[in-house]
Amino acid sequence: MQITICGGGNGAHTLAGLISAKQDYRVNVYTPLSDEVQRWHQGIEAGGGITLVSHDRLLIGRPHRVSDDPSSVVPGSQLVLLSLPAFAHEIILRDVAPYLGDGAWIGALPARGAFDWCAREVLGEVEKPSVLFGLQTLPWACRIREYGREVEILGTKAAVDLAAWPSDHAEGISALLSDLLEMPVCPISGFLSLTLASTGQLIHPGVMYGLFRDWDGQPYAEAPLFYHGIDAATADILQQLSDEVQSLRALLEARFPELDLSAVMPLYDWLLRAYGDTIGDPSSLLNCFVSNTGYVGLRAPMRPTDQGLVPDFRARYLAEDVPYGLVVTRGIAELVDLPTPMIDQVITWAQEALEQEFLIGGRLIGRSVATSRAPQRYGLNSLDEVMRAA
Ligand code: NAI
Repeated sequence: MQITICGGGNGAHTLAGLISAKQDYRVNVYTPLSDEVQRWHQGIEAGGGITLVSHDRLLIGRPHRVSDDPSSVVPGSQLVLLSLPAFAHEIILRDVAPYLGDGAWIGALPARGAFDWCAREVLGEVEKPSVLFGLQTLPWACRIREYGREVEILGTKAAVDLAAWPSDHAEGISALLSDLLEMPVCPISGFLSLTLASTGQLIHPGVMYGLFRDWDGQPYAEAPLFYHGIDAATADILQQLSDEVQSLRALLEARFPELDLSAVMPLYDWLLRAYGDTIGDPSSLLNCFVSNTGYVGLRAPMRPTDQGLVPDFRARYLAEDVPYGLVVTRGIAELVDLPTPMIDQVITWAQEALEQEFLIGGRLIGRSVATSRAPQRYGLNSLDEVMRAA
């Protein structure tokens, strides 16, 4: 089977190393950034492939071809995997769509919010009858050690959920991915579950807000710890964000009794399931974060200035998880008139940091909604329309 991996970052390196080390799979890599292609080639030549390192394992896989030309790496692929921040999904989908074979499986790891609406719009324009899928999270915490050559897995989730469209493909794709990713991939009811279950939308903007909401503009000598830097007040923010998503889940389930949103777990429950043994003290939400060895050493995104380090508000923790996460959920909540005070507080702070505009006067009518994945962007202006598009 031929597989194309799209992306040039941490997730793409991990997938490329892991899958191309297996027999029976021909792995291509697509990234539109030509400087990245050069660096992949240099790294692969120097190291004989991509080396994947984890605490108990080392393996090397060599991709068949890496290119910035989709026509040379996509045709003939049964599986196309997007592993890159959600703000790049639409760009990549437009690039690869003309070269997809009929019935190809195309999916995002992770999907974040409303990947299905985005992909169906793009693939619909070129009339490609593909099957879509998405994972609830990236299966690993991983970081490139040397570009094109070596990537490290810092932590592995115990299991990961998958939704597909049309949904009857979820079982088959999950079985294949369980094999490829070497972990349980569990089919869930559909993309609406996946959208609401994206915990990145809670954790990343919630922790950025907790860390930097009172920042006075003074540079830092060193980057604060991201997860291990969470304090009781930030844990409370995360709890409130999670509670608001649970209220939305309950309201949707009450209106549509046949709707199965059981995969939309409270944040605490999700942490225990995803991280299990790496959480030393599960006695509270706060302790789940600060005692999780899978988070050791991970720091807040910062950028250097002449005076020191300042928060990088353009990093994916806001640039991805607000427009393609929290704003999508907020858009669905608006359609059912559910108040979401903490989500609103975080979006209101983040939109200023991002120099974007989503909420105006408590409504999702800002100019940046047009580039988000909120239902309103896709012309879905009632709950019935959202359900029909699910
Ligand atoms: P990354 O930040 O390493 O990805 C960067 C890559 O994305 C770039 O190298 C480039 O190839 C591509 N890219 C970025 N902007 C682009 C653009 N405008 N046009 C085309 N390509 C562009 O991301 P990473 O770490 O691989 O993460 C992938 C996904 O997994 C993200 O959604 C992230 O939030 C999620 N995730 C990552 C984790 C990790 O440990 N790396 C853990 C959990 C989730």
